Amino acid sequence: MSLSSRFENIEMAQHLCGKLLDPENLSDETRHWILMALREALANAIKHGNGQDRAKRVHLEMDVTARILRIHVRDEGEGFDPEKVEDPLAPENRFKTSGRGIFYMKTFMDEVRFQRAEGGGMELFLTKNLAGGKEKEEKGS
Ligand SMILES: Nc1ncnc2c1ncn2[C@@H]1O[C@H](COP(=O)(O)OP(=O)(O)O)[C@@H](O)[C@H]1O
Ligand SMILES: [Mg+2]
Repeated sequence: MSLSSRFENIEMAQHLCGKLLDPENLSDETRHWILMALREALANAIKHGNGQDRAKRVHLEMDVTARILRIHVRDEGEGFDPEKVEDPLAPENRFKTSGRGIFYMKTFMDEVRFQRAEGGGMELFLTKNLAGGKEKEEKGS
């Protein structure tokens, strides 16, 4: 689907993603983290990518096949270098309340991959194996 660059659209996309996840019988917690990852991805596309310019679109694909959730978000902004994003765990960033969206996405999703889109903008691919049972707490242990 194609969304205009308004934060209000995040809720609608989360609602649709929730519908897509309904048949998967996920724990409330897993569901919560997936919808949070989607929110952070869309917020970045709307804010940092498209600069809330309503003429620019956010392109969103969501799909579950064989218990693999795939989310693809593309904006029409300038793109960025994910390597240059500050580490929210660095001491100087510990008390900042922003700069954690990508970190959260990486904590919970199995794959978080950025790529510059053809013709400008940024593409983000999020993948989560819904059968994997890889809960947030378990990761990194
Ligand atoms: N789609 C995007 N287009 C351009 N820059 C982006 C995009 N997504 C993320 N960024 C950059 O990555 C940084 C970190 O993003 P994030 O971890 O979500 O933290 P926050 O959104 O709070 O700044 C942003 O501040 C921005 O500089
Ligand atoms: Mg963000």
